[in-house]
Amino acid sequence: RLDVTETFKGITFPGHLHTQESLLYATKFNFQDTDILIVTFPKSGTTWMQEIVTLVSCKGDPVKSQTQPNWVRAPWIEQYYCPDVLKASQGPRVLTTHLPYKLLAPALQGSKAKVIYVARNPKDVIVSYYFFHKMANFLNDPGPFSEFLSSFLDGTVHYGSWFDHVKGWTGNSRNIENFLYITYEEMWEDLRGSLEKVSRFLQCPLLEQELISVQKTCSFNTMSENNMVNYTLVPQEIMDHSKGRFMRKGEIGDWVNTFSKEQSHNFDVVFASKMADSLLTFVWE
Ligand code: PPS
Repeated sequence: RLDVTETFKGITFPGHLHTQESLLYATKFNFQDTDILIVTFPKSGTTWMQEIVTLVSCKGDPVKSQTQPNWVRAPWIEQYYCPDVLKASQGPRVLTTHLPYKLLAPALQGSKAKVIYVARNPKDVIVSYYFFHKMANFLNDPGPFSEFLSSFLDGTVHYGSWFDHVKGWTGNSRNIENFLYITYEEMWEDLRGSLEKVSRFLQCPLLEQELISVQKTCSFNTMSENNMVNYTLVPQEIMDHSKGRFMRKGEIGDWVNTFSKEQSHNFDVVFASKMADSLLTFVWE
């Protein structure tokens, strides 16, 4: 079976990509000050930010993003292949993680690594995650949407609670020396401004032409056609592209097409209660 589950510190992970050893390796990860770490809850704009960081670091040169799969140029530190990828890589490292703050806090303590946290409207996250479970054979069949929604609200989906994830990372950002918070919605509404923000944060200034090149290469349309990020390199038995696409819609507010009015209302109630102790104010419809 492909859809096995690995449980670590009370959180479940897809067993296809994670082992006890790989998860332990991540929690003890040896960060370097030159590292760039992209942090997301799944389906929040991970791949998009991996593409942006690659392109900004290469000053808009698209060659790397068109020749190296995203998981090679920005490996997930908690996934089993990470040590091998890093052994073979050269230069400053771009890393990715879906781990909650509490699992990475000790490893990040005192680090000057640059941490980019991308958040997305959780309703869109849920819908994107749901459809991803349908096409990814290494994830369990999600059943009806209402069940998946309940699991999401309970924090029993893979990688745990979205609420804990967002609160953990943003609420502790003062403990991280170099931290950038950005949302999928901001990237969507003002891609150019977001690229400028990322380029300032990474201290990689871009000329106008370079900025235009980044903007074009990381657009939804270009990325959908780029085999290095659209996951079509993954064998059909692992991700079944006849059941849906990884680059599914790339929209904001698409949740309205899946949530019922009642589900949306229930979500809002849970959201208000779980986020009451957070200073974050999200802007989304
Ligand atoms: S994963 O599996 O956690 O790495 O997934 P992740 O990359 O975080 O999220 C996938 C969703 O991001 C959308 N996406 C984009 N949207 C807009 N523009 C660009 N360039 C882009 N690249 C990826 C992708 O389509 C998934 O969202 P949905 O809503 O399912 O379309």
